[in-house]
Amino acid sequence: MHAFAYRNGTLCCEGVNLETLAAQTGTPLYVYSKQTILDHFTRLKEALAPLNAEIEFAVKACSNIAILNLMAQHGAGFDIVSGGELFRIIKAGGDPKKCTYAGIGKTEQEIRYSLEQKIYCFNVESEAEMRAIDEIARGMGTIAPVSIRVNPNVEAGTHKYITTGKSENKFGIDFERIEELYERASRELPNIRLKGLQMHIGSQLTQAAPFVEAVAKVAPLAARLKERHGIEFLSIGGGVGIVYQDSLESGGKEWWDESPEQLTIKTYADSIIPLLQPLGLHIIVEPGRVIVGNAGALITRCLYEKTGKAKTFKVIDVGMNDLIRPALYQGYHQIVPVTEHAGNDTIVADVVGPICESGDFMAQNREVANIHQGELLAILSAGAYGFSMASNYNSRPMPEEVLVDGDSWHTIRHRQSWDDLIAGESIPQV
Ligand code: LLP
Repeated sequence: MHAFAYRNGTLCCEGVNLETLAAQTGTPLYVYSKQTILDHFTRLKEALAPLNAEIEFAVKACSNIAILNLMAQHGAGFDIVSGGELFRIIKAGGDPKKCTYAGIGKTEQEIRYSLEQKIYCFNVESEAEMRAIDEIARGMGTIAPVSIRVNPNVEAGTHKYITTGKSENKFGIDFERIEELYERASRELPNIRLKGLQMHIGSQLTQAAPFVEAVAKVAPLAARLKERHGIEFLSIGGGVGIVYQDSLESGGKEWWDESPEQLTIKTYADSIIPLLQPLGLHIIVEPGRVIVGNAGALITRCLYEKTGKAKTFKVIDVGMNDLIRPALYQGYHQIVPVTEHAGNDTIVADVVGPICESGDFMAQNREVANIHQGELLAILSAGAYGFSMASNYNSRPMPEEVLVDGDSWHTIRHRQSWDDLIAGESIPQV
């Protein structure tokens, strides 16, 4: 479910009227629903209960410390990919001992910091990285917990930029080389403890089949590594997709057509549990999008309307710097007016931002409500990879973020000022 719906003709997030909210905060504005985040988290936890799986929230999806604090309070661990993300977890009151650190390019400084903070495990993505971790741990007089990320060479059926489990992707180590690497590590790298095995085949998966294929391939490998090297966990990564299309009407339903192959939290859990349960390993999942994606919306105001020879444009105050998904992945986000329009009051238009690039659009040739200058729109399903991928491109301050809880709301990040834009810059004094 999600908690965005019209009430008396105005879009609300839980009990908060978004017209009133935007009048107070200004736009662009990211709004998140606490209730929706917790609903998704709890349902995933319950669906995976037979495995007693640990949910490590993928910080990169939405990294505001208020959201991380919420997840930590409800017992989540974290999938991190940088020293900066670990710093955020600590500031958010999360436990480093519940963090696994993935990514192919960890620096020495990041590895040291993670060892000092005693993270649960490094997910290693190359032999060279494993040797570097061993050496740094030796210098610090400690033992580094390590798992290797296996690349199972499985087709995830998602956008090519977010496919990670094929041999041609830069992630992980080839399936066929894993056992030999564990052998070598146990022989040659005394400052490493082989603690687990990890994989992640991609993001925004809409079918259960690729997960089943990957888990079925990797589970026997995990069993052998458990027997031979005493590994204690298997992490199967994240990747559960969400419904972007007609998100408002569906109320955040997981998939319209709930055939057993379509990926809902339940079909996901039901299809992998039988493969994982017999392993007797600690199971970790690393969801990002499925927890926060439909829990967030980006509120924007229409600045101008413009009709050219070929098209009508609705120019809004959100640009690709605020939400890059349409530009980068041809990502679809439903766009609805905050004040409801009659069903037939629509127009086919491009909804575009102020950035000086033709790729700066939120929708192209889309039938949308015929909103006019000054009206507010909500870009839905923007909770994951929305603010966390925002930038200052075109010297645009980053938006405010608000967390709604019932009838109340809190600013969890102030809108940047123009002064913030140049903080840290300097002119050489000659
Ligand atoms: N674990 C690992 C190792 C990952 O690389 C990722 C995402 C996740 C877990 C979480 O995946 P999720 O459950 O959110 O699908 N910016 C793109 C998505 C990039 C995903 C990167 N890795 C987008 O906006 O679609």
